[in-house]
Amino acid sequence: MYQIEVKDIYKSFKDVHAVRGISFAIRPGEFVALLGPNGAGKTTTVEMMEGLKNPDSGEILLQGKSWLKNEKDLRSIIGLSLQETRFSEKLTIFETLCLFGSFFRLGEKRVNEIIELTGLESKQKSMVGTLSGGQRQRLALGVALLNTPQILFLDEPTTGLDPHSRLDLWKILKQLKDSEKTTLILTTHYMEEAESLCDRIIIIDEGKILKDGKLEDLLDEDSRNLDELFINLTGKALRENGNVVL
Ligand SMILES: Nc1ncnc2c1ncn2[C@@H]1O[C@H](COP(=O)(O)OP(=O)(O)OP(=O)(O)O)[C@@H](O)[C@H]1O
Ligand SMILES: [Mg+2]
Repeated sequence: MYQIEVKDIYKSFKDVHAVRGISFAIRPGEFVALLGPNGAGKTTTVEMMEGLKNPDSGEILLQGKSWLKNEKDLRSIIGLSLQETRFSEKLTIFETLCLFGSFFRLGEKRVNEIIELTGLESKQKSMVGTLSGGQRQRLALGVALLNTPQILFLDEPTTGLDPHSRLDLWKILKQLKDSEKTTLILTTHYMEEAESLCDRIIIIDEGKILKDGKLEDLLDEDSRNLDELFINLTGKALRENGNVVL
């Protein structure tokens, strides 16, 4: 059975056609990178898969179930971190995790496991308002992982992180991959991240899929690596270290 089936979805915001007929299916344990330039429709697509936005047309099934009829079931099997996750500034890391844990009836034991996994031990009593960007990203990942999700959605989880923090986050995701219990959809502007973590690359632009497959199958003489493939397809460069590569 597929973990995720996306069938010909469309989504417009007034006259902006953000997603224009996207379809794919993802198997259990697959790690998939969704790539595309700014405004390509990645976040809109992911938020529809997460049940946060409804497609104007088309269908999305997670483990064969639609959001319309199975919201409660589906919330319990997914984990997500948004492109810009905002937590209450006045709660500590520990309190934030306890709050989100309570939605899944999880206790302090799981919260402590997550704090250890995300390397936030020394900051657990700090208020969210005092955290650095990287620490906030780790907290967002921790919240996403609390309920041991079968399907994990991460929208630009490492944007703005220093190389060291990025590697730390990759390490956590690689552990998850090795456990083979989680399916991951990740959006990123970092080519290296997609290459090192994901088995499959989907490149979208202007709301449509341009390429979908294993990286080695997508490359050829004109596109010898993911960077070149991306530029050839979209006419734009991927971002390296947060800056546009010209
Ligand atoms: N709530 C909204 N109202 C109006 N337009 C929107 C809304 N959300 C997204 N859009 C538009 O839809 C298009 C796709 O946006 P989306 O956020 O999905 O892009 P993205 O691929 O995630 O880009 P980025 O790499 O910058 O995060 C953009 O043109 C954007 O301006
Ligand atoms: Mg986005």
